[in-house]
Amino acid sequence: MKYHLRPWSIDDLPALVRYANNPKIAQNLTGHFPHPYTAEAGKNFIHMASAPTPTRIFAIEINGEASGGVGVHPQQDIHLKTAEMGYWLAEPFWGKGIMTEVVKEMIDYAFETFDIVRLYARPFSSNVGSQKVLEKAGFTHEATLKSSIFKNGQILDELIYAIVK
Ligand SMILES: CC(C)(COP(=O)(O)OP(=O)(O)OC[C@H]1O[C@@H](n2cnc3c(N)ncnc32)[C@H](O)[C@@H]1OP(=O)(O)O)[C@@H](O)C(=O)NCCC(=O)NCCS
Repeated sequence: MKYHLRPWSIDDLPALVRYANNPKIAQNLTGHFPHPYTAEAGKNFIHMASAPTPTRIFAIEINGEASGGVGVHPQQDIHLKTAEMGYWLAEPFWGKGIMTEVVKEMIDYAFETFDIVRLYARPFSSNVGSQKVLEKAGFTHEATLKSSIFKNGQILDELIYAIVK
């Protein structure tokens, strides 16, 4: 299925709220991605995502609609040369290989655009789909942080995946 990455626009708000307001998505993300996902949360997100140049957070456009998001977040201080990657996809498009392609494209973008040597992601132990995406895109499972996460009343392990330039 065809997708393309582009910056977020305030016109994406209805699609964003419709797709992001899904507990199956929020379940796998930090509290920065709330549930329920309100219009207010969507507006704040789009303003935040539209601000920096070069773009760090892209909309995943499918069939002319924002249908997910992917971001690279450069770190600071001693972690200056690293960036974290995060992503989500609207549920109707799961299981079609889209996120594997998106992550591969973002790896190239991140290493070309930012002065970094390492990209990492931190899926929860329960998130097998995301772990497979990362492995297929070339990330290595480096570590498991035992009982590091408390989400929706559950203690989970946090997995560290990384790819070095
Ligand atoms: C996790 C997520 C990004 C996967 O996106 P996707 O486009 O469906 O992934 P892909 O289709 O590229 O799948 C890659 C592989 O993972 C497998 N996979 C995907 N979802 C899976 C699941 N829930 N359970 C088991 N395997 C899964 C696919 O079958 C595929 O493997 P294969 O090529 O051997 O068949 C998507 O389900 C999502 O947005 N989830 C909620 C938010 C989230 O988890 N974000 C990541 C936080 S770290």
